[in-house]
Amino acid sequence: MRTDTGKAVHLEDYKETDFVLERVDLTFELDPKETKLTARSLYHRREGAGADAPLVLDGDELNMTSLLLDGVEMPREHYEENGRQLIISNLPAEIAFEITVETLLSPSTNTELMGLYRSNGVYCTQCEAEGFRRMTYAYDRPDSLGVYTTHIIADKTSCPIMLSNGNCLGGAPYGGDKHFVSWFDPHPKPSYLFALVAGDLGVVEDTFTTMTGREVTLKIYVEHGKEPRAAYAMDALKRSMKWDEEVFGREYDLDIFMIVAVSDFNMGAMENKGLNIFNDKYVLADPETATDVDYANIEAIIAHEYFHNWTGNRITCRDWFQLCLKEGLTVFRDHEFSADQRSRAVKRIAEVRRLKADQFPEDGGPLAHPVRPTTYKEINNFYTATVYEKGAEVTRMISVILGRKAFKAGMDLYFERHDGQAVTIEDYIKCFEDASGADLTQFALWYHQAGTPLISVSTDYDAGKGVFTLSLEQMIPATPGQPNKVPMHIPLSFALLLPDGSKAEPESIDGGDVSKGVIHLRERKQVLTFTGLPTRPALSLNRGFSAPVNIQFDQNPADLALIANHDDDLFSRWYAVTELALPELIMATASIRANGAADFSDTLVDTLVSVAGDEKLEPAFRSQVLALPSESDIAREIARDTDPDAIHAARNALLKAVALKGATVFAQLFDRMKTPDAFSPDAESAGKRALRNAALFYLAHAEDSPARAFSAFDTATNMTDLSQALTVLAHEFPDSDETKEALRAFLARYSDNALVLDKWFSVQASAPGHGTLERVKALMTHPQFNAENPNRVRALAGTFAFANPTGFARPDGEGFTFLAEQVLAIDKRNPQLAARLLTALRSWHSLEQGRASHARAALLSVEQNDSLSIDVRDIVERMLAA
Ligand code: TRP
Ligand code: ZN
Repeated sequence: MRTDTGKAVHLEDYKETDFVLERVDLTFELDPKETKLTARSLYHRREGAGADAPLVLDGDELNMTSLLLDGVEMPREHYEENGRQLIISNLPAEIAFEITVETLLSPSTNTELMGLYRSNGVYCTQCEAEGFRRMTYAYDRPDSLGVYTTHIIADKTSCPIMLSNGNCLGGAPYGGDKHFVSWFDPHPKPSYLFALVAGDLGVVEDTFTTMTGREVTLKIYVEHGKEPRAAYAMDALKRSMKWDEEVFGREYDLDIFMIVAVSDFNMGAMENKGLNIFNDKYVLADPETATDVDYANIEAIIAHEYFHNWTGNRITCRDWFQLCLKEGLTVFRDHEFSADQRSRAVKRIAEVRRLKADQFPEDGGPLAHPVRPTTYKEINNFYTATVYEKGAEVTRMISVILGRKAFKAGMDLYFERHDGQAVTIEDYIKCFEDASGADLTQFALWYHQAGTPLISVSTDYDAGKGVFTLSLEQMIPATPGQPNKVPMHIPLSFALLLPDGSKAEPESIDGGDVSKGVIHLRERKQVLTFTGLPTRPALSLNRGFSAPVNIQFDQNPADLALIANHDDDLFSRWYAVTELALPELIMATASIRANGAADFSDTLVDTLVSVAGDEKLEPAFRSQVLALPSESDIAREIARDTDPDAIHAARNALLKAVALKGATVFAQLFDRMKTPDAFSPDAESAGKRALRNAALFYLAHAEDSPARAFSAFDTATNMTDLSQALTVLAHEFPDSDETKEALRAFLARYSDNALVLDKWFSVQASAPGHGTLERVKALMTHPQFNAENPNRVRALAGTFAFANPTGFARPDGEGFTFLAEQVLAIDKRNPQLAARLLTALRSWHSLEQGRASHARAALLSVEQNDSLSIDVRDIVERMLAA
């Protein structure tokens, strides 16, 4: 029985609970089909709450077998169950009382992966956001903090390992084949941070000594035999703990920190107090099975979940509208960590690419919502790129506006003032205001107004007077529910570059608030004048992507080339190449549509070739430049009436032109950047591999033969090189014998490694062209396809829908029909996964008419189904409404 009602929840309706939770004592008697959970909770009536207000607890699909008040069975007329709530009346007015709820759970048939479920024989829980209520009746909301004790009783042989939050109190045999163990977590926490794991797992152990000299035990649990593949995650964990002490002054607060890797998981990982649970994709790595991207993701996600211990756990959210309070801030923290561990500029480029690929389309389509939404129907649908990535950008802007020192002071005040509390975005902003004296009222609009601001830029230079004029205008597009916007405070980092690449120093700057290289745009329109400039400077604007905005600026190619070659901000150099390429790619797309041909300027092609061969630049940076704007980047820029086939052809034409002109450079890079015998996953080595594989990709376009990629596949000594060679084969030479052989060999070699097999599926699903759909359908019936495993579903259907514009949006609409069928099938088992998959259509409005009407038909076919989950219904309705 589904128990959600799908009624909207509104921020303005927030009310404190009538009762205060104090302690929770949970006993799980684990069994695949009949787990008995006895939950004893101590409450007292809140001061000011009505003397006869009932206790209203949340529940979802529960089978309650007993209900006691202070150990005595509750009279039937004192409570009622309505499917999603347990409402208890006649409760004491002044004294604390204990409610005991007994429920029966069936973890082995829980396919939603929320609440208590089993993954590969391992019992585990996922409680964020509202999974705890799938185990027992509770105040399942983040502002209800309790101190938890957990007892686990299970079979000795199948569950030698039994874990929960906090510190272990000990265990003992429990009669028969069973044993029990107890855990106590002294830190009050909301229910969403509760976790339990039980099963037969291997473990890797280490220790970390904190800044005050306390020794913390570190344990990573994985399936038996996979222990060696947890070494990198352990290393990343220790570096994260050290970094959080050094940079944010945050020390870990329990005697033990545990991570468990499971193979069935809806998201990346979960920050349960002292017991993080991870999608094993983000724990397991070795050179033979993990790519450099996998290593970087593991490092970032291990850090992210660990950092939540302070930003999320010690200080949590008052309600789910405040989700960005923990997620945006924690993403900002993990970005900073990765930047410090790797190359800051390259990390920033990767972040911006991702922001533009995931968040900008969301913000520009029917699913647009503010970083802090004010209403939702299904909170799971709000774990979005906007909340996470734009949320991180908003915190980054606070650090740009206040400067390093004042930002740090604001963070310190936040930790000091709100430790142990469940707070709001207003509380967060107030800390920065109080610590710095700044007024962030206008800036706070970033949390409330959805849509990516568009800044129109024009410049003028008066040679006679030596005056440079900069006109800025901001426009924030209308988004669902927000037709009209007001101007925001937008911090734009900038520099004026002279022809030799040095920075111009104006005598005076008038017309706006400019300090320390940052323009504070606050008005709708602002005109700045820079005097004392004998030479016309080139404007490098939004350096480091100081604000997450779109910029409309018809900048001349010579200025862009100057920035691309000389700016001392590497990010800006990358950005300038992108800005050089995009207008030409857009023109080329139009000319492909008009007459089937396209050409590109020498400035662009030469710039790309010269960056490729510039030994002064780090290899990772060069590979980022060579990656070019993606097909979806180009589509987003074109914005309306887009034709994915024409975009693909135009981009391929540029690849070919660069490949032919730079063939010698690429051949040299391919030889020189070879990975040495001793593999290292560090950023510099990864950068060389990235550059070498970019060269291989261009060479495939220049040589028009699978031979080189096949030999690269044959001789690869690590998964990065192997999977890149396979990608070149499968994408550029899909019908060649070499490709068939490589796919066969890859499958044979890794048939018992699920994470590597995911790559085999996704390489094929992302092959461009109209024929891929048939391939994907065939792969759905492959013996190794597993519709119950979210990683596998994402690898095949997800990759196809999100990362294959020509295949998915093929002109006959069959790709969309396929997605609709998959969403409906998956929805029956796992609504969260289904809803997320459906968001692949979020930019359907911008497609050309034929494709758009097919997309709409596919959405309608989903909408017409009357047994949809709340999750899918919410997405499909928003997608069709706008
Ligand atoms: N809080 C998790 C994070 O670190 C997100 C998450 C993990 C999650 N599993 C989930 C959210 C399940 C919703 C449902 O970002
Ligand atoms: Zn998070």
